[in-house]
Amino acid sequence: MKDDFRFLRACRRQEVDCTPVWMMRQAGRYLPEYRALRKKHSFWEMCKTPELAVEVTLQPLRRFELDAAILFSDILVPLEAMGSAIEFYEGRGPVVERPIRSRADLEGLKVIKAEEAVPFVMEAIRILRRELAGKAPLIGFSGAPFTLASYLVEGGGSKQYQHVKTLMYSDPQTYHRLMEMITDTVISYLSAQIQAGAQVVQLFDSWVGCLGPCDYREYAFPYNRRIFEALNRFNVPTIHFANQASTLLEQVVEAGGDIIGVDWRQDLGRAWQTIGYDRGIQGNLEPVSLFAPIPEIHKRVKRIIEQAENRPGHIFNLGHGILPTTPIDHAKAMIDAVHEFSAR
Ligand code: CP3
Repeated sequence: MKDDFRFLRACRRQEVDCTPVWMMRQAGRYLPEYRALRKKHSFWEMCKTPELAVEVTLQPLRRFELDAAILFSDILVPLEAMGSAIEFYEGRGPVVERPIRSRADLEGLKVIKAEEAVPFVMEAIRILRRELAGKAPLIGFSGAPFTLASYLVEGGGSKQYQHVKTLMYSDPQTYHRLMEMITDTVISYLSAQIQAGAQVVQLFDSWVGCLGPCDYREYAFPYNRRIFEALNRFNVPTIHFANQASTLLEQVVEAGGDIIGVDWRQDLGRAWQTIGYDRGIQGNLEPVSLFAPIPEIHKRVKRIIEQAENRPGHIFNLGHGILPTTPIDHAKAMIDAVHEFSAR
C-alpha cells in the first residue's frame, strides 16, 4: 500500500512486521560506486547536480534492504547559500574561507529562502520521490543551529570549540544573532524539503555534545525548539539526532522531535525510558562494530533489539555515520540481521 512503509509506520509508532533500518551516511565513500562517481566530479558538483545527488542517494538501496533513503547532500549546503564560501580540500574536509568571529563578520551573511537559494536540493527530492515510489520513503535533513554555527565560527571541524564558545561567552549578542539567522534558514530549508516531498526530516546536532547542560539550555535549546515548533504545521515525522548528548537527553526531548536519535554511548533501553514511550527512538549500533566478525555483529544487533523490546517506534540505525573503510558485506549482514532478529 502506498506510503505504508515500515519505516513510516515506525515513525508514527504503529505496529511493524520487523524493525526498520537505515544508516547515517549511507550515501557515501564506503561504496566503490560512490568513489567512482566522485573521481569524475567535485563534492560540491555532486551536491548541486540533482541527477548526481539522486544517483548517490539510490546507490546504497541497490545493494541493501534499507527501509529508507536519505537525500545525498551536506549540512554545509545552506551555509554556502547564506554567503559563506566553503572550500572542499581533498583529505581535509570542508573549510570555511572567512570564519565568523565578530559582529562585522555577520555582514556578508543572509537568511535564505531555500526554494530560491538551493533549488537543486528540491529538484533532487522531487526526482527521488518518483524514482523511489513504492520502494522506499525519503528522508530530508539539516544540520542543527549550534552545529552549523560551530562550523561557521570555527571554520571547520574542531576539538575544543574554542572560537564558538569564546564568541558565545564574550559577545552573546552576536552569537544569538548568528543563531537566529541560521535558525530562520533551517526552518526555510526543511520546510522546502518537506514541500518538495521529503517524507521525514532529521536534524543533525552532531557537535552539541560539547556543551554543558546550562549552556545547552541557553545557547542551543531555544533554537532547536523553534525549529520543531515551526515544522509542526506539516504532518511529517521529525527525527532529532544529538550526538554525544546523553547528559542532555531530557533537554533534547523537550526541544522536540517525534523520534530521538541516540548514539552508542548510552544504553538504548534506558535512554528510551528517559525519553518516554510517547516518542520513538533511533539507534544505536556503534559504527566501529561493523569491523568486527559477523557473529559479533549479530550479537550486538540482537542486544539492541532486545533493549527495544519490540515496542513500536524503534528505528534501527548506527549510533553515528558509517565509516568510509567499513566492509560492505558487514553492513549488509547488519541490515539483514535487524530484519531477521526483530521479525514479529
Ligand atoms: O547520510 C547520508 O548519507 C546523507 C549525506 C550526508 C553527508 N554529510 C554527505 C557527505 C549527511 C547527512 C552529512 C552530514 C554532515 N556533514 C555532518 C553531520 C552528520 C554527522 O555525521 O554527524 C557534518 C558535520 C558534515 C560536514 C562534513 N561534510 C564533513 C566534516 C565532511 C568531511 C569529512 C567526512 O566525514 O567526510 C563532509 C563531506 C561529506 N559529506 C562526504 C559525504 C559523502 C564525503 C565527501 C567526499 O570526500 O566524497
